[in-house]
Amino acid sequence: MAVPLPEQSMHGQWSSRWTFILAATGAAVGLGNIWKFPYLTGENGGSAFVLVYIVCVAALGIPLMMSEILLGRRGRSTPINSMCVLSAETKTSQWWQIIGWSGTVAGMLILSYYSVIGGWTLAYIFKSGMGTFSGASGEIAASTFSEFVGSPGTLFLWHTIFMVITMSIVAGGVQGGLEKAVQYLMPTLFFLLLVMVGYSMTTGFFGKGLAFLFTPDFSKLSGASMLTAMGQAFFSLSLGMGTIMIYGSYVPKGTSIASTSVAIALADTGVALLAGMAIFPIVFANGMEPGSGPGLIFQTLPVAFGNMTGGIAFGSLFFILLLVAAWTSSISLIEPLVTWLIETYGMSRITASLCSGLATWLLGLGTVFSFNIWKEVTLFDLNFFELLDFLTSNIMLPLGGILIAVFAGWLMKVELTKSELNIQNPTAYLIWQTLVRYIAPVAVFIVLLKSVGIL
Ligand code: TRP
Repeated sequence: MAVPLPEQSMHGQWSSRWTFILAATGAAVGLGNIWKFPYLTGENGGSAFVLVYIVCVAALGIPLMMSEILLGRRGRSTPINSMCVLSAETKTSQWWQIIGWSGTVAGMLILSYYSVIGGWTLAYIFKSGMGTFSGASGEIAASTFSEFVGSPGTLFLWHTIFMVITMSIVAGGVQGGLEKAVQYLMPTLFFLLLVMVGYSMTTGFFGKGLAFLFTPDFSKLSGASMLTAMGQAFFSLSLGMGTIMIYGSYVPKGTSIASTSVAIALADTGVALLAGMAIFPIVFANGMEPGSGPGLIFQTLPVAFGNMTGGIAFGSLFFILLLVAAWTSSISLIEPLVTWLIETYGMSRITASLCSGLATWLLGLGTVFSFNIWKEVTLFDLNFFELLDFLTSNIMLPLGGILIAVFAGWLMKVELTKSELNIQNPTAYLIWQTLVRYIAPVAVFIVLLKSVGIL
């Protein structure tokens, strides 16, 4: 017997389409755009990687985001419980709950290292504010960074602070307040990025930076970098994990899922590209190495802040805004676990946050140490942080994405998806259907096989 579907999630509903776009963009725009996108682009040779990334966002990201919002709005609950309701409704196996489970676990795994990098951001607010980078050269910025990550105690401290603050926001359920603040802070971050791009234009290496990002050189494109580009598209858009599903569950009926998804994807990709345009000219102007890894923005941006007028204030402001962007993303990473604990065990929000936060914090210590004392401890040539990142971004998110696509494209009734998506134009619906039914599953599969060298 089909379970009757509630019209509204027990946790509430967005007041308008804009609140949803804002919250979803808040979840999407984060360290992934400003910290991760540039360093992955640098490590994977630039332009060809960027191109694959953009194709993945357009052809996989947008249709999958639509599917995820659709499942969430129909299921109206946490990813695990939504999938339970939806599999009953479509009379398919309860095994489909695996989408919810794997997503909930992935969110916690991602947050465990996200928090460590969030801690770096926190520390860099103070470093910039104290004028550590005044007049700094590329070498000074690089050595400051390596000294910083070389100290397990320091990283431990900042990771702990970041986690405590994140979990207090989650526990207090004051997302409302945070989201109001984000309305102003996110556009400001966008504006500061534009100013940084402006600074990069003065370095004399802007053209070289642009060429690195946008002149495709396919010789640099390996199966592994294709997988990384695809994984990054999932990561940056927060897909394949249930974040968008849970946010989708608060979406009122009648909202256009398609145009909302396109808007979120455009904003998210815009921020990533701007970050790249700000950073690579600084890399080349200072003779730095584009492929220097996770420290890239922490080694390049301080050089710019250290050498521009008002750089101390500007630099700290920049890291403050990056921190806020990181918070809105971290909340979305842990929200599925916290709400699931509340729904399933009847825990209070505070207890649920405490348990999830503690477990995530503990796991994060692995990442803290992988930058110093456990740097050489590797499995398949990857240290703890790299392994966690690979497993989540490149395996769990894309697989979660395929399952979501298959569920929405094949198992849900066409009339149902048609009415939920509310797409008037039949061709547009057909495009979505073809993308989720055939293109997305096949493409993800090919890229996965290619990366392990099977194709
Ligand atoms: N998209 C965020 C970023 O770019 C990170 C993030 C938030 C995320 N929620 C997610 C990644 C869910 C994957 C899945 O920083």
